[in-house]
Amino acid sequence: MKTKTSSYIKITSVYFLFGVLWIYFSDAAINLVVSDLETLKFLQTIKGWLFICISSLILFFFSKQQFEKIQNETDQLAKTKDLLETIIENAPISVFWKDLNGAYIGANSKFLELINLQNRKDLIGKKDSDLNFPEKEEFVNDDKLIIETKKAKLNYIEKVTVKNNIVKIVNTSKVPLLNFEGNVIGILAITQDITEHTENLNLLKEQEQLLIQQSRLASMGEMIANIAHQWRQPLSIISTLATGIKLERELGISNDENENESLDMINQNTQYLSKTIDDFKNFFKKSNYTNTIYTDDLLARTLKLISSRLKDNNIEIILNNENVEIDTYENELIQIYINILNNSIDAFMEVNYNKYIFIETKKVNSHLIIEIKDNAGGIADDVIGKVFEPYFSTKDEKNGTGLGLYMCNEIVTKHLKGTISVQTVIFDYLEKNYTGASFKITLQL
Ligand SMILES: Nc1ncnc2c1ncn2[C@@H]1O[C@H](COP(=O)(O)OP(=O)(O)OP(=O)(O)O)[C@@H](O)[C@H]1O
Ligand SMILES: [Mg+2]
Repeated sequence: MKTKTSSYIKITSVYFLFGVLWIYFSDAAINLVVSDLETLKFLQTIKGWLFICISSLILFFFSKQQFEKIQNETDQLAKTKDLLETIIENAPISVFWKDLNGAYIGANSKFLELINLQNRKDLIGKKDSDLNFPEKEEFVNDDKLIIETKKAKLNYIEKVTVKNNIVKIVNTSKVPLLNFEGNVIGILAITQDITEHTENLNLLKEQEQLLIQQSRLASMGEMIANIAHQWRQPLSIISTLATGIKLERELGISNDENENESLDMINQNTQYLSKTIDDFKNFFKKSNYTNTIYTDDLLARTLKLISSRLKDNNIEIILNNENVEIDTYENELIQIYINILNNSIDAFMEVNYNKYIFIETKKVNSHLIIEIKDNAGGIADDVIGKVFEPYFSTKDEKNGTGLGLYMCNEIVTKHLKGTISVQTVIFDYLEKNYTGASFKITLQL
């Protein structure tokens, strides 16, 4: 605009200046050399023609120069416009822009594809309400807000239901569209179809959920084995006592005192059975919130749950505990203890020397450190790097799913925001040298 005005002024000024100079100097020159009227008239005519010819030539060159310049600029502008259009058209993201009334002024093919439209003319000039998006109200409100506040709305996830009721999940950013003067003339938006990505994420989450579910089932299986273990003895006592009472009656040697004693013992044992059920039931309760507990209580509850397995296998637990208060998911932490202890018990199967499991808890700065170590021989070098992977197990199918430690790692890192590690250690205990696995869990207090 500016260059055009200045070139008008330039051409007109040159023409004006030339005219003034021509009239002034040519008249003065003629007056100086010619005196008779006839010649003067003739020369004036010639001078007039000369003026027209020269000024036409000047005008021709100036206009040509200006025209070429404008042509050049126009070509350049067209090229830039083409490039811009190509960029928008080929951008790997959907782009569209609307005017102040919310009518579409432009969009690239990717956007047409996203909203299942074949032709651009089905979009241009239309509003969201014309396109029948069920989400039109939200779209219009967003546009209004951006236009009114002149502020962008970036990277938000929204739903768009396109033709044939196909729902797409998109990540959108909208910015106000400004003209040269800085006034808002509409909105410009980019949006990316993330439906597939979201579906994949959901699938991953589902798979993770499935793994958690499987591992819960696995630890439930282990627990049931523990219950069965724990019940065997009291059940056999009850059965023996009941058979005894019956036999004494049949033989006619029963007496009230003996019978009462046996019935009391039966009662005691059934109460014990009922209590073990409560212990296990509490363990299976899913904790949705944390509570404050002491590590000693936690350990006592854990050991109660697996006491019979420990006793049956002659395993001695050696405790070295600082009773630390912690706010945590109690059952999750018990599940971790049980998984690790069960693994040690399994590892002791082949062992025929003294079996020990050392449990140490201590507070270091603002961390709770739990170390569980056995003397069952440790974990082989080619195995140790994989023990936290899901489904990794060196046991046969019947005895291990390979989810125990995976689950421990998941719970510790994702749920309790801590860390867990394992190493094979060599150590002395009661003047004997042992090798074993040592698990270390660090939790933020
Ligand atoms: N204390 C340990 N001593 C020796 N090896 C161990 C010990 N703890 C774990 N492992 C090894 O780590 C592997 C993975 O343990 P993890 O608890 O994840 O699975 P699992 O015990 O095989 O099966 P489950 O899902 O029933 O727990 C085990 O198969 C075993 O080889
Ligand atoms: Mg295990």
